[in-house]
Amino acid sequence: MNTKPAIEIAFRPQSRRAFMTAVLIAQSGLLLGSVLLTDKWVQSNVSLPQFQVDKLFVLELSIALCVLTLTATIFYLASRRYKDALEQSNQQLQDEVHRQVSNSLQKRNALIHGLAKLADYRDTDTGDHLDRIGHYARVLATQLKPKHPIITDEWIDRLVLASSLHDIGKVGIPDNVLLKPGRLSDEERAIMEKHTLIGGETLLSIRNKFGSDEFLDMGIEIALQHHEKVDGSGYPFQLVGENISLAARIVALADVYDALTTARVYKDAMSHQKAISIIQDGRGSHFDTDVVDAFDSTQDEFDQIRHHSQQTHELKRIDIEAAARIFMEENNSLSTLRRAA
Ligand SMILES: [Fe+2]
Ligand SMILES: [Fe+2]
Repeated sequence: MNTKPAIEIAFRPQSRRAFMTAVLIAQSGLLLGSVLLTDKWVQSNVSLPQFQVDKLFVLELSIALCVLTLTATIFYLASRRYKDALEQSNQQLQDEVHRQVSNSLQKRNALIHGLAKLADYRDTDTGDHLDRIGHYARVLATQLKPKHPIITDEWIDRLVLASSLHDIGKVGIPDNVLLKPGRLSDEERAIMEKHTLIGGETLLSIRNKFGSDEFLDMGIEIALQHHEKVDGSGYPFQLVGENISLAARIVALADVYDALTTARVYKDAMSHQKAISIIQDGRGSHFDTDVVDAFDSTQDEFDQIRHHSQQTHELKRIDIEAAARIFMEENNSLSTLRRAA
């Protein structure tokens, strides 16, 4: 008797019947294989392979494929879950590193600004000179940004902090020279001019210990070059034009404007208008032409910064005393609490 097997495995997508009984084995959109179960022979009109096997074999094969599919799915889900957990953990780690780095940078920046202010107290009343220089430098750099691709927001932030280091070398200048009222003799002037080299050398020694750093490099350029003039008549290296770093060219103008418009122990303050005219006279000789043009476009902002600084000058003095008192009171109460505990 010619009996046909009850079950057929066929790779024949053309058969409607086969489609209706197909078991597809797939993972992540990738078709791994298929088992076609039919209760009768299906006529094939294509030359794809067909296999006639007994019922038990197909059952065993189906179970094996199901187990395989299930195992693959479990493995896939487990690995996906592991990958997600790993990604989440990596992100948390990156966030923590970023937070720690930014925290350290903030501490470093505050410390640098504080130490630079300490040096600045020697020949200015309040150390406000550095705050104003930072504001002026930001105004100029922002104005120059469209013309100078090197200037980015990060560059400007760096410039504002690094500008506070411009006169850090003055700590090495004796009082009789630094605070002398009136003109300096040639010998005294030579001593005074050394503050650029002292500042540069101090920052270079830090760099030698800790390695290269964008902020430190800019600080060194500014300390060394803020008294250079674009026509080569400045000091200490008589650099010309763009051989002077852009940061130093900006700080040079900000520094001169502030020095002219504020009183020192040895001189009175000059008017805003008079300072403008001196700076404009120095366009292309003392100062970079682009920087002077930027100054011309932002004179009002300079005036506002200067005004604001003068108005808050006395308030700051009172604030300093009040802040010191609050700090001591808080510290005393903390010590009392600690003793009681
Ligand atoms: Fe200086
Ligand atoms: Fe200065």
